[in-house]
Amino acid sequence: SLTKQLSDKKVLISAGPTREQIDPVRFFTNHSSGKMGFSLAEAAAELGAEVTLVAGPVQLATPRGVKRIDVITAEQMYQAMLSNYDNQDLVIMSAAVADYRPVKTFEQKLKKQAGTLQIEFERTTDILLELGQQKKQQYLVGFAAETTDVEYYGKEKLTKKQLDAIVINDVSQEGVGFQGDTNEVLVMTKAGKEKKLALASKKVIAEQLIRQFIDDIGVE
Ligand code: PMT
Repeated sequence: SLTKQLSDKKVLISAGPTREQIDPVRFFTNHSSGKMGFSLAEAAAELGAEVTLVAGPVQLATPRGVKRIDVITAEQMYQAMLSNYDNQDLVIMSAAVADYRPVKTFEQKLKKQAGTLQIEFERTTDILLELGQQKKQQYLVGFAAETTDVEYYGKEKLTKKQLDAIVINDVSQEGVGFQGDTNEVLVMTKAGKEKKLALASKKVIAEQLIRQFIDDIGVE
């Protein structure tokens, strides 16, 4: 049974946004609620896997049986993913990691001034790219939140980041992607499989995804 298949598997999942501090009262972030990643963790745990969930700042309860590691910044998420990466069977980056952080975090609150404000940003580490480069036995899955040419950009990420599969959500569509309780995704695998999962609750989408990845691990 699938439960048996998963009972000896280790699964590492990231979820939620990251938060990059500008000064003591302000930060740079995005709309991720963590629901998609927490649903994946819940689904994998229910199917018997040993699940580690690296969570950005979100307002969600830890799914039963899941080991949770809370982080705030992209750098902390990178460290947490890397230090738990070695012995995993399935690794899924569903977090919406900030691509940029302020070059400098101001120690005191920035005071209002006349005119415009300029804050300089620098790139954060591309966690998924690093995980792809260090991949051994892990089946590595990325997400792609796109608004145009979703298949093109999805395929590009699949190859460039050396992934085994990519889950693409077209976040310009109603009921898809950030915040809500539903999602609709296109899954593309390295082996060339393409599958659309029709609009459903994030929990149902998560179960379908975990089942597909476990199947793929089994046959590869
Ligand atoms: O949390 P919810 O409200 O439920 O919303 C779910 C979701 C929309 C956040 C989720 O379904 C999703 O699409 N997550 C990925 C969002 C994203 O950041 O996509 P991206 O196309 O910018 O990044 C591509 C991939 O690279 C992602 O797997 C991302 O985790 C990873 N990445 C990005 C930047 C970075 N510095 N390091 C990374 O590892």
